[in-house]
Amino acid sequence: MIEIQEITKSFGDKPVLRGVDLKIDTGESIVIIGRSGCGKSVLLKHLIGLISPDSGRILIDDEDITSMRDSDLYRVRHKFGVLFQSSALFDSMTVRENVCLGLDEHTTKSGEEKMVIAKDKLAMVGLSDVEDLKPAELSGGMKKRVGLARAIAMDPQYVLYDEPTTGLDPIMADIINELIIRLNEQLDVTTIVVTHDMVSAYKVADRIVMLHRGVIMFDGTPAEIKNTDNKVVRQFIEGRAEGPIKPVPIGGISLRGDRSG
Ligand SMILES: Nc1ncnc2c1ncn2[C@@H]1O[C@H](COP(=O)(O)OP(=O)(O)O)[C@@H](O)[C@H]1O
Ligand SMILES: [Mg+2]
Repeated sequence: MIEIQEITKSFGDKPVLRGVDLKIDTGESIVIIGRSGCGKSVLLKHLIGLISPDSGRILIDDEDITSMRDSDLYRVRHKFGVLFQSSALFDSMTVRENVCLGLDEHTTKSGEEKMVIAKDKLAMVGLSDVEDLKPAELSGGMKKRVGLARAIAMDPQYVLYDEPTTGLDPIMADIINELIIRLNEQLDVTTIVVTHDMVSAYKVADRIVMLHRGVIMFDGTPAEIKNTDNKVVRQFIEGRAEGPIKPVPIGGISLRGDRSG
């Protein structure tokens, strides 16, 4: 279980998180939504200790990672698999080498064992016969899936996804959504997705929380968010320019219909 308690974080004099409280139960599939730049990636990075909060605590299975020695933090970090927004694959390495990165660094498994694991994890994300290719030879959707195979290579308890469908066509986005759901069930992991893609949010979430102005302003099921009276939440989920959220003006012209900010 993950407990985020009253965390705050500013960059310079700009507050990004202003007291975020969130409990994530084991096995849950939670989606964190919010406008671009609202702090979703910053919040995810806190969970794996890549960013430390200015105040507040983050408990991973009852251990506070904000006051941990580095060696303990590395141990806790191994509970997480992360699919970064860019997929973060190394271009000079083959698909197999990319998938095996964590295994190379943190285990003493033999080359043979690692080949089996890579093949197995790639099969789980629907890829075969790509082990010897380089990322440049893959489509965007395939890169995401290789990134996902790498994220699950070390059998994590928690899988974090940062904007997993952004930049994909709707069909590929749906394939990734299906995968997120299937892995949550088959691997028995806790799934945390951050996105501004509401189609994806409705599809994969047991629970949706909305981050807005540095706090959690909504927390409920997909059915509950669809029926909320909260005007800010409604404007976001319906993707409307008019409403309490003011689009950022560019060159003095307010961009109507801009929902990504
Ligand atoms: N390392 C950093 N240093 C300074 N500012 C940062 C850093 N990381 C994020 N920010 C700022 O924090 C805000 C939230 O960023 P981010 O979490 O990436 O937003 P998003 O919700 O789109 O993922 C942005 O204004 C961003 O510029
Ligand atoms: Mg982000």
